[in-house]
Amino acid sequence: MIEIKGLHKYYGNHHVLKDINLDIGEPGIYAILGPNGSGKSTLLKSIIGLVNPRQGTISVNGISVAGTHAYRNEISYLPQIARFPDNLRVFELIRLIKEIRNEEADESELVNLFQVESDIRKRLRNLSGGTRQKVNMILGFLFDTPYLILDEPTISLDPVSLTKFRKIISEKKEQGKIIIYTTHIMNLVEELSDHIILLLEGRIIFKGGLKDIYGKTGSSSLENAISMLVDKNGK
Ligand SMILES: Nc1ncnc2c1ncn2[C@@H]1O[C@H](COP(=O)(O)OP(=O)(O)OP(=O)(O)O)[C@@H](O)[C@H]1O
Ligand SMILES: [Mg+2]
Repeated sequence: MIEIKGLHKYYGNHHVLKDINLDIGEPGIYAILGPNGSGKSTLLKSIIGLVNPRQGTISVNGISVAGTHAYRNEISYLPQIARFPDNLRVFELIRLIKEIRNEEADESELVNLFQVESDIRKRLRNLSGGTRQKVNMILGFLFDTPYLILDEPTISLDPVSLTKFRKIISEKKEQGKIIIYTTHIMNLVEELSDHIILLLEGRIIFKGGLKDIYGKTGSSSLENAISMLVDKNGK
């Protein structure tokens, strides 16, 4: 269970998250949506403890995340922009992450699934954009955690890899895990998501299921429904 209460985040004077309240307890797939700069990544980083909120509380399984790290073992995180030393080879990076996390894991199935066997000895700087993202995804799915937080996981992926991503996510959901992700691909959301959280300028302007968003807007296309809500709530 992730509970967020009265969360405010500022970068300097810039008020980026405004009174965010969220209860994420039910297993399933949660899509965090919103225009560029609306605060999606900042919200995800707040849960991981990568940014410190000005006000409000976040708890994971009833324990406040402020000043503690232990809960991170429960979470897999795929950042929107992953920065690793460019001279590392793929297999070295995977080994490093396992060492840092101090946890055993077997990447061979994921390496095979995403067909990166031939890239495993390449340095990160020599990978294609999509392969780099596949490697990030392997790291995101490497550990068996109850929570998965994925910030634009499908960026640069080819259709074959996208299908594999869908399969993994669906399996994780079947296993009763909580998956929170951001994306700008609306048909992925329509297909995969149980809960939608729509952010605009740091505020939640909608939370609910697909049916609720269609009902609220009278639209049967998610893209239209989101546009309508953003227009209605914007400045
Ligand atoms: N480290 C930072 N320092 C200062 N401002 C930041 C920082 N990170 C993000 N911001 C600002 O906070 C706001 C929200 O950024 P955030 O990355 O959370 O948006 P987002 O919804 O994830 O957007 P996108 O869809 O482009 O990924 C933006 O105005 C951004 O410029
Ligand atoms: Mg982002």
